[in-house]
Amino acid sequence: MPSDRLEGHRCGPLKGVAEVPGDKSISHRALIFGGLAAGTTNIEGLLEGDDVLHTAAAVRAFGAEVERLGDGHWRVTSRSEWRSPDAPIDCGNSGTGARLLMGAAAGWPIRATFTGDASLSGRPMERVLGPLRQMGARTEGSTLPVTVHGGTLTGISYDNVKSSAQVKTAILLAGLRAVGDVEVHEALPSRDHTENMLRAFGVDVEQEGGTVRLGRHRDMVATDVIVPRDPSSAAFPIVAALLVPGSEVELPNILINPLRTGLITTLKEMGGDIEYRNVRSSGGEQVADIIVRASTLTGVEVPAERAPSMIDEYPILAIAAACAGGTTIMTGLEELRVKESDRLSAVAEGLGACGVEYQEGKDSLTVRGAGGPPAGGGEVAAHHDHRIAMSFLVLGLVAERPVAVDSAGMIATSFPTFLPLMRNLGADIR
Ligand code: S3P
Repeated sequence: MPSDRLEGHRCGPLKGVAEVPGDKSISHRALIFGGLAAGTTNIEGLLEGDDVLHTAAAVRAFGAEVERLGDGHWRVTSRSEWRSPDAPIDCGNSGTGARLLMGAAAGWPIRATFTGDASLSGRPMERVLGPLRQMGARTEGSTLPVTVHGGTLTGISYDNVKSSAQVKTAILLAGLRAVGDVEVHEALPSRDHTENMLRAFGVDVEQEGGTVRLGRHRDMVATDVIVPRDPSSAAFPIVAALLVPGSEVELPNILINPLRTGLITTLKEMGGDIEYRNVRSSGGEQVADIIVRASTLTGVEVPAERAPSMIDEYPILAIAAACAGGTTIMTGLEELRVKESDRLSAVAEGLGACGVEYQEGKDSLTVRGAGGPPAGGGEVAAHHDHRIAMSFLVLGLVAERPVAVDSAGMIATSFPTFLPLMRNLGADIR
């Protein structure tokens, strides 16, 4: 088997245009919503990473027709009638795919078993299964393999204390076919792509303070979806361009939904030169072209309330913090421990291997920046986690000595074009 070890090496300025792939959250939703809605849903800009391809296969297994018409161009045709799949649904590495599909399936009188890879099989599913049972579904297993027996569901009023958009979405999708009121409360708002897209598919969704409620009209009607580019993938070339001296990179058509841009806010507070151009609306979401120029960064304290809007971006923020002058304090990170890996300890371990001073708490990370290039030279264990691998390869582009990542293959789950895109900007990744 070929090794998927990669090294990031110090390089000259990054220059050019970085066309990152479609947003992962919106891509999963587009396929699943298309599968639920009666009619034909055309999708443009779909992320064709492994996670989303697993969801496409799953939607097909539940009875919809799912076709790839060209690069990022997909068509889902559904009679809005889900059936029990013939075989277990393999969700691969994807928590979003697994949890959203469990919610979607629960509303139908069907039975489905969900499986996944080793990482996903260790991740908590009770957060979704608990509310689904409360609504009347029957479930077996609390980690994968999990079986959901769907049926006639009743309403629910659920306090989403973890501010998990996956939990919120699972409840709302199950709720589409439930009898009675369906509402989810959040003290800190999670990403709202589900609400935006449900409305586009013709469903009444009400929002009042921190509460999202399904209205009376819950039948979904197929519509076309344009997927903007993923800010969570853009995060890697953005931070690389800030850190590599002399860089200037443009990232066109990036989703700038405020519930996704906590990293940009934080990087600007640190002194990052990041500019939005041509802010516009596309397919019900705000997008912009982003221009990033190399900057001198200073450590900051990141408010815990910002965590839901940058939950996937802490690993790459830690890399920016490692190069900044002064200390960066990140709190409210408990959810990082149950991502594709325990990201809090994976980041801490990687920083340690690269000579960066840090302190890891139960739900916090403090990084003492080098005020320039950190030592590097580490062999970093990516724990088969795409975002850990990409983060430390970016560190290698600026560190004194190369940074090696042991397993970079998982990058294909979310950002299959990461390597050519970064090399095209001038990154030295071997
Ligand atoms: C996602 C929600 C977040 C995020 C994940 C995608 C989504 O997870 O980390 O990558 O598409 O709803 P949680 O819902 O667990 O916070």
